[in-house]
Amino acid sequence: GKVAVLFGGRSAEREISILSGTGVLQALQSKGVDAHAFDPAERSLAELAAEKFDRVFIALHGRYGEDGSLQGALEQLGIPYTGSGVMASSVGMDKITTKIIWLANGVSTPKYAVIDDDTDLDKVVADLGLPLIVKAPLEGSSIGITKVTRADELQAAVELSRRYDARVLAEQFIEGREFSVPVLGTGPSARALPIIEIVAPEGNYDYQNKYFTDDTQYHCPAPLDAAATLAIQREVEKAYRALGCEGWSRVDVLLRESDKQFFLLEVNTSPGMTGHSLVPMAARAEGTSYEDLCVQILRSASL
Ligand code: DAL
Ligand code: MG
Repeated sequence: GKVAVLFGGRSAEREISILSGTGVLQALQSKGVDAHAFDPAERSLAELAAEKFDRVFIALHGRYGEDGSLQGALEQLGIPYTGSGVMASSVGMDKITTKIIWLANGVSTPKYAVIDDDTDLDKVVADLGLPLIVKAPLEGSSIGITKVTRADELQAAVELSRRYDARVLAEQFIEGREFSVPVLGTGPSARALPIIEIVAPEGNYDYQNKYFTDDTQYHCPAPLDAAATLAIQREVEKAYRALGCEGWSRVDVLLRESDKQFFLLEVNTSPGMTGHSLVPMAARAEGTSYEDLCVQILRSASL
């Protein structure tokens, strides 16, 4: 039947979604799927039902695409869609709520504080130490993130994040190596793919280095020993299940250099599928092409 590839949208990650969605659309078409582009920023979702689409591939990132609201609308319309359901999508969108659930399930994540209007910033610095990381909890692709190295920079960093979200997340800085781990599948059969190590110029894997420079190096499978690889993959699978993720996701991980402890940062329930993106890279390391990966994700579409 007819498949709609949803991309574009109206989040801060619109530009990335267009790159992801264009790739997915071409891949599905090359595999003989009757796939069509659909930008929910331009069209009403009701048209999906009116035009008898019988499945949706979500290639949207951020608000209104990854945050559960779209998933809720598709549930109402009765159209199966890729990826997580309403709850895991909305929880996964919020880095603060994600951490609360992970901590309740014994998943390792960096120490944090939530900053609102009444927060004593000196106390945050005292609790988390410096440097610390300030994040807009509902953004993706490193948008609204600042590394704060001096206490007097914290206020400006909080104000930057507040442009995106009313609540701000402050996180302990972990000095070490950066990894990302895709997961495919649902329930007990969900499994982690090969780990990707990210080596960004000056350790700065920001929006620009994620998508638009060729200076970031990726190593997949990551050069880790077998025990560390397995330990990280198992922790990521546990974190995925704790949130009730479905279909696919990608979890970002830091490995602290000093004591080799690892920390999970966040989950991306609608990960990037651009030419620079990590899930296709890990799939390729296992011998799965970009096209086959898209078909596999589409097959997992459900209500
Ligand atoms: N938020 C971007 C798209 C990612 O996680 O891949
Ligand atoms: Mg993210």
